[in-house]
Amino acid sequence: MFGLFGGNKDWQATVNGGEHTITVKAGDNLLKAALEAGVPWPHDCRVGSCSTCQCTLKNGKIKALTDFSYVLDQDQLKSGKILACQTRLKTDVAIEVELSDAPAIALNSYEGQIISTRNLTHDIKELVVKCEGKVEHSGMAGQYSEVAISALDDPRSYSYAKAPKQENPGEFTFYVRLVPNGKFTEWLFAEERVGETVKVTGPYGQFFRRDEDSTMVCVAGGSGMSAIKAILESSAAEQVKRNCLYLFGARAQQDLYCMDELAEIGKKWNKDYSFEFVPVLSEEPEGSGWQGATGFVTTYLKEAYVDTGKLSLNEAQGYLCGPPPMIDAAIDVMVDQGMNKENIYFDKFLDASSMPGGR
Ligand code: FES
Repeated sequence: MFGLFGGNKDWQATVNGGEHTITVKAGDNLLKAALEAGVPWPHDCRVGSCSTCQCTLKNGKIKALTDFSYVLDQDQLKSGKILACQTRLKTDVAIEVELSDAPAIALNSYEGQIISTRNLTHDIKELVVKCEGKVEHSGMAGQYSEVAISALDDPRSYSYAKAPKQENPGEFTFYVRLVPNGKFTEWLFAEERVGETVKVTGPYGQFFRRDEDSTMVCVAGGSGMSAIKAILESSAAEQVKRNCLYLFGARAQQDLYCMDELAEIGKKWNKDYSFEFVPVLSEEPEGSGWQGATGFVTTYLKEAYVDTGKLSLNEAQGYLCGPPPMIDAAIDVMVDQGMNKENIYFDKFLDASSMPGGR
């Protein structure tokens, strides 16, 4: 009895002329096999919508799990481009891909229990999972893991909300935002879930600090706080020699959280360099007493920092995390104001309203 795609046989993928040889098990996609083997394959969404995992099929036959033409244009398709996360093998294949600058870290899966949940705002919860056995939390601040529960078929992806090196042994901390029709988030918010069993698989993602001397300009919104906070915690702990501006966009004061943690990061930041954290509120009611920054976070970046000459984006690096419209707007402003697009790193939090498998 043969499976549907490529039978029940394992196949080999030879990558970049033999730089890596990956065994792709029957039923697995090429990206999953590569990441499990510790090959630093570029990836982001893992559901066929971002095209980050694209590579060139030089030889062999594959089964496309989705229509590549949704994200690859005709020229790319003609040149043999495929999406690794949407590819199963029907034969051995030869592939060319520009591998990521991320360190090669093999995926690990751990089973554990939810040991605490805590409301951070009216729609964001902190979730702490403790895993059993010998747990290597080998990811980098900014990366993410999949979190799976038996009540749901598909896992969900959440960024590390604490720098992995600063977690208690075996623990993983995530921030989860309640999203409309988000099955995992509705499950989590419905009742107390301490003691529930979960499986954590990771690390995934290309979002992490690149070591340069330039100023870090961070912009986050919603639960995008998690990855940026983790990056800043690790940067403070490592005493990086960089100035940093972090703008956090929220609707109103009720959406602010981690203020104490950010103050703590500021105290620990390398004393020879500046660290500035600014929450920016877009819908704070008049007369609320809020004395801080207002408006859209991207407009605020331009008007309060670039236009005034306080900050030059020419040599800076951008780190963006949160809802896709905010990230797209921030990229536009940053590039428009002189930042090199290649110096902008981002993690778009796609949720159940944006795509299946989102956060
Ligand atoms: S399309 Fe494969 S990782 Fe996004």
